[in-house]
Amino acid sequence: MAEGNRDYDSVLIVDFGGQYTHLIARRIRELGVYSEIIPARDLSREAFERISPKAVILSGSPASVLEHEPPMPPKWILDIGIPILGICYGHQALARMLGGRVSRGVGEYGGARIRIVRRDAIFEGFGDVEEVWMSHSDYVEKPPEDAEILAVSEDTGYIASFRISGKPIYGVQFHPEVSHTVKGRVLLDNFLRLAGARREWRPSGTVDRIVNEISRSIGPGEKVLCAVSGGIDSTVTALLVKRAVGDRLVTVFVDHGLLREGEAQEVLERLRKLGLNPVFIDASKRFLEALRGVRDPEEKRKIIGKLFADIFKEIVDKDPDIKWLAQGTTYPDVIESGSSPHAARIKTHHNVGGLPRDLGLKVIEPLRSFYKDEVRELARVLGVPDEVIKRHPFPGPGLAVRIVGEVSEEKLRILRRATKIVEEELKTAGIYDSLWQAFPVLLESSWVGVKGDARREGYIIIIRAVESEDGMTAEWARISYEILDRISKRITRELPEVTMVAYAITPKPPSTIEPQ
Ligand code: XMP
Repeated sequence: MAEGNRDYDSVLIVDFGGQYTHLIARRIRELGVYSEIIPARDLSREAFERISPKAVILSGSPASVLEHEPPMPPKWILDIGIPILGICYGHQALARMLGGRVSRGVGEYGGARIRIVRRDAIFEGFGDVEEVWMSHSDYVEKPPEDAEILAVSEDTGYIASFRISGKPIYGVQFHPEVSHTVKGRVLLDNFLRLAGARREWRPSGTVDRIVNEISRSIGPGEKVLCAVSGGIDSTVTALLVKRAVGDRLVTVFVDHGLLREGEAQEVLERLRKLGLNPVFIDASKRFLEALRGVRDPEEKRKIIGKLFADIFKEIVDKDPDIKWLAQGTTYPDVIESGSSPHAARIKTHHNVGGLPRDLGLKVIEPLRSFYKDEVRELARVLGVPDEVIKRHPFPGPGLAVRIVGEVSEEKLRILRRATKIVEEELKTAGIYDSLWQAFPVLLESSWVGVKGDARREGYIIIIRAVESEDGMTAEWARISYEILDRISKRITRELPEVTMVAYAITPKPPSTIEPQ
């Protein structure tokens, strides 16, 4: 589906690089209104008119309005007459644009309480005092002249919310998109009501439209290449393209030798059941050969991406009717690796990297405006089995990025077994489905162990298990000691090469989910 979706009412989110921008966009969609993110510096009149939103939200930011030339929304946005909600940095930016004063304050981080001092439709359903979540050190010291103060922080007395008199322009210093803000959803719901936005956005209702759009794009006789991994994004992509072009879809499943235990066979069977009948290419030897001696993580990713491209090129060279490459790129991929000046490129995700350009194919990305939970909804409509829908995300470069240092047959064997143990134990304990991801990582350094009376140096394995809503931020999962103990005992018993199992307790940020 193309951006600027005029079939649905939408909300435009202007992104100043805030950590929670995607969360805002998802919350709005959960409330039934389509949302789109535009990096602040890309916000032009044309972009605005293309999206034609019912309301605008200004996001948070790591920047400060007190900096020299801070990023600011364009002035014209204030004159359009549609509701505007500034969140955190957005609240401060609004205050400054409208003549208020922002200063450096004492800082409010984490849970806080606000007191509603003036009743307004945006706070309908709020009690006099409510729990919110804040993360700021600047604050609005003096509101704009024509502003009404709606709420203040209980502790600091800072302005927690203001409104421009008689206009639907609001600022909130706290984060309504974060679940710790108890009535955050209520506030966003109120805002959508003020905007008069129709609640018609439902991903499952868009399948026919996506399929028609693909059919229209692909010329008669043209074929589409789609590489599938067994994961939900590529499977749903292939199924949508299949509906659109039938046998002109060439599905390819490459075993790069970096998959989990028994995975290649399982994926093949599943894809066949879904009617996708992929061309199967066992390239494990080729990949392992290319990775020999390589320790640098980005280098590993590049080699893997390049080999995938080589393999696809070989297929394309044999079939000149293949003109298109279908990819399972989702909305966070588009925005994360997009043009936002604040979003540093942390890792090269090869499904968004240079691959398509090298192949000379036109690219089709039917999921590029969807979030993961929305892709899951599409998957259900398309008959994808639950085990695929509930499967944890698995990175394209597979176990290579979970082996710190050089990849070898021995390390792969150990990591495969350990992965199986972790997955089995979490499933047995009934908590697998509640986690975003959970997996072991094999380290390069060693830990001294004892075997009988003898000293032996063995591998260190780190278990990483996280809860997350979209993989953009993550919290380490508070798994019980009993479960961790079972995992640790099984790993060291079944894999004598391992002498230490540790648990990773750093959230994202500052860490990432995968080690590399
Ligand atoms: P990080 O490690 O950046 O990961 O916090 C965020 C999410 O992305 C997944 N991931 C990948 N997915 N190709 C993919 O398709 C990749 O190269 C890749 N690297 C990381 C990761 O598993 C997590 O869900």
